[in-house]
Amino acid sequence: MNFELSQDHKVLQSAVRDFVEKEIKPIAMKIDEEHMIPDTLVAKMGEMGLLGSYLPEEYGGAGLDMLSYAIVVEEVSKACGSSGVLISAHTSLCSGPIYTFGTEEQKKKWLPPLNSGDIIGCFLLTEPDAGSDAGAISTTYTRDGDDYIINGAKMFITNGGYKGTGVIFATSDKNLKHKGVSAFIIDLQSHGVVILKNEKKMGIRGSYTTAFAFDNVRIPVANLLGQEGQGFKIAMDTLNGGRIGIASQALGIAEGAFALALAYSKERKQFGAPICDLQAIQFKLADMYAKIETSKLMTYKAACLKDAKKSYTMESAMCKMLASEAATFVTKEAIQIHGGYGFICDYEVERMYRDAKITEIYEGTNEVQRVVISKLLLS
Ligand code: CAA
Repeated sequence: MNFELSQDHKVLQSAVRDFVEKEIKPIAMKIDEEHMIPDTLVAKMGEMGLLGSYLPEEYGGAGLDMLSYAIVVEEVSKACGSSGVLISAHTSLCSGPIYTFGTEEQKKKWLPPLNSGDIIGCFLLTEPDAGSDAGAISTTYTRDGDDYIINGAKMFITNGGYKGTGVIFATSDKNLKHKGVSAFIIDLQSHGVVILKNEKKMGIRGSYTTAFAFDNVRIPVANLLGQEGQGFKIAMDTLNGGRIGIASQALGIAEGAFALALAYSKERKQFGAPICDLQAIQFKLADMYAKIETSKLMTYKAACLKDAKKSYTMESAMCKMLASEAATFVTKEAIQIHGGYGFICDYEVERMYRDAKITEIYEGTNEVQRVVISKLLLS
């Protein structure tokens, strides 16, 4: 058992840190205020290889591993949770399933523009009446000659506003529940795809969260991902990987807030001394750090298990649950350490607190993670 990152991972970590310091940190507040990640930043992330980190080079990816991907999302999220989730949803929820379940033709066609960042990807599972109960989706597909026709609605779609490439889930017959679900690759520029709205949110304001309607949208049969009826399995498998991304995002947000709180506690003087001399503050710092380190160990472990092609379903659910709960705890305590200043929008911990909350909700609420973990324990 070795808890040290390899030399290659350290080099990557340092390169991404430099990139974040130069390109993301200076505009993180602006991204939140303007509810938008500049296209120039998305393009730079693409050039840097951050949008295809674990996809093979033959499809335009950076050819790294899942642990590298976790490090990328973590480092970016230390400065900007919105940019972190853009990378995470794009990579593990769109490129990931196309790579894992796609045919050679599908990989060659769809992955290079995703990996370069020319096209941004998303994952279209959730619907107004099917969130945690993903097997209850109502969006339908029917076959018509060489096309499938999709009708229905999707919501809470991260990166949807880019109208790029998506992996969409639809059912042939709702009565079949999860056995009726199939997955398709969809070009969101297709006729009949309508953006109903981009949601206004408490946090990760730079990230699009989009509601769509699909009105007789034609998808070529060549875009079926896997086999008909295999969609629920594809969704679950994809979310297992995606949860490592959200854990990494949460971990990064927590680390970003912790670094600010630690520095502030050394600067801020009350009662004639820096507040870090007070045991009340020291205990907070200790609790925050312990939760961060625990989350990091579990997140990296889940990533390493996936790299080793071992089962990691339980670990991905655990790291998503632990890291997101650490993020909400750490950002809350970071505000407490900042006192009144932490409540002011000029201070980054205010944004980080808002950004952290969603990590307990998306890619399965933490109640869903507990279902996944306990089902495996009892099976
Ligand atoms: N990994 C692999 N397979 C799984 C699985 C997992 N994590 N969870 C369930 N399955 C399999 C089961 O083994 C079972 O397989 P068989 O049919 O072969 O037996 C099948 O799926 C059905 O399992 P269940 O009966 O347990 O299914 P369920 O309907 O009771 O639901 C659930 C289980 C865990 C609650 C599942 O529905 C789930 O994960 N829900 C959450 C969905 C989710 O995360 N949505 C977020 C979408 S993305 C997003 O957040 C936005 C974004 O863009 C970032």
